Amino acid sequence: MARAEWQTRTSLNFSSDSWSVDDVPDQSGKVFLITGGNTGLGLATAKVLLARNARVYITSRDRERGQQALHMLRRISESIHVLELDLADLHSVRKAAHEFMRYALSSLLASPFTGDRHAYTD
Ligand SMILES: NC(=O)c1ccc[n+]([C@@H]2O[C@H](COP(=O)([O-])OP(=O)(O)OC[C@H]3O[C@@H](n4cnc5c(N)ncnc54)[C@H](OP(=O)(O)O)[C@@H]3O)[C@@H](O)[C@H]2O)c1
Repeated sequence: MARAEWQTRTSLNFSSDSWSVDDVPDQSGKVFLITGGNTGLGLATAKVLLARNARVYITSRDRERGQQALHMLRRISESIHVLELDLADLHSVRKAAHEFMRYALSSLLASPFTGDRHAYTD
């Protein structure tokens, strides 16, 4: 995809060399699934998207690390959910995909969303 077309589709503008996370536009109404979101780039991405009003699903292969990330991210927004996912385990991949399809996508159709049932919680 050409850069200009991609920028139009994503509403992101990389025309300046000084582009930063402060330039990320409002993400209201958008749902993101971030694999490996309990640390590193995934966690940093989740923080920015939540601060821009997105609904974010992070995945973690370790329940404890997922919970730690969840508590941290809830300080930014309640629109954060955690799914358990180990990409090296196809059963885990299938289960996480099923949960995401069932709850994340249904929340777009059914409002209000009471969607903490699916993710492992406190
Ligand atoms: N950091 C950089 O500057 C940079 C630059 C270019 C490219 N990258 C690439 O971007 C990716 C992320 O980088 P990062 O620095 O954020 O790495 P990181 O801090 O090591 O985070 C990686 C994430 O992936 C998860 N993960 C690893 N194996 C997994 C598996 N089998 N199933 C599910 N989740 C798994 C980790 O979970 P656990 O916490 O359970 O280990 C962690 O949440 C890497 O592929 C890296 O090579 C990074």
